[in-house]
Amino acid sequence: MQIIGVAGRKGGSGKSTLAVHLAAELTTRGESVVLVDCDPQGSAAHWAEPGHLPMPVQHMPLEQGANVSKWSHAIRRISAHYLVLDSPPHLDAALGGIIGLADLAVVPCGPSGLDLVATAETVSLIREIRDARGDGKPQILLVPNRVDRRTASSRELQAALREMGEAVAVEIGARTAFSDAFNAGVWVGKYAPGSPAHLEMRAFADEVLRCLTLEESRYGKKKRVVGA
Ligand SMILES: Nc1ncnc2c1ncn2[C@@H]1O[C@H](COP(=O)(O)OP(=O)(O)OP(=O)(O)O)[C@@H](O)[C@H]1O
Ligand SMILES: [Mg+2]
Repeated sequence: MQIIGVAGRKGGSGKSTLAVHLAAELTTRGESVVLVDCDPQGSAAHWAEPGHLPMPVQHMPLEQGANVSKWSHAIRRISAHYLVLDSPPHLDAALGGIIGLADLAVVPCGPSGLDLVATAETVSLIREIRDARGDGKPQILLVPNRVDRRTASSRELQAALREMGEAVAVEIGARTAFSDAFNAGVWVGKYAPGSPAHLEMRAFADEVLRCLTLEESRYGKKKRVVGA
């Protein structure tokens, strides 16, 4: 099982949007995927309520003061090839629980200065947890989200994220199809198949798979050296 944690300290950065679409896109490729909504707000669980998302969604909220190790054990018992965890904002203990399990941490970031500050804080928190784990995980994938190429801040977002020294994904545009799909209880692959929003989510899923494959081959090499 590979675990992808979609995380970030800032509210409204696009965590649930990316988590739902990544899980949906991987499911339509024939993979076994479970989306776990770890946010007490339950946005992804609410999105799934009408029953029109292609993958199962479980609500396992990480509340303030939750027993993180009990929660982690319950997560590890879920059976799926890919587990996508949607995390709450503002709760560092929850972020710690999710990053402690993840093979890959996906961090969406909007174009404002405040988004960049929150992303830098999130990256340093993830690095601390990665150092404490000692297995080199999770890898980090920063995702420029809500990009509007007409604005300077959006055009500069890629470069600002690259300076953080982690992998940066292709941009996701500011597109009403995402909120419209949410309101309709579906994902963009169903709401607007072949639309720019759908194609961007496909490219994002490709990038996630590329990161996980790289991670696996790096880990495999390490294991071979140790066993040699
Ligand atoms: N690329 C985008 N283009 C347009 N709207 C977007 C985009 N990404 C997210 N949104 C919208 O922004 C709002 C917040 O997104 P979302 O709920 O995914 O953020 P979040 O990080 O999960 O928020 P929270 O921190 O509250 O959990 C939603 O209305 C969503 O539809
Ligand atoms: Mg959310």
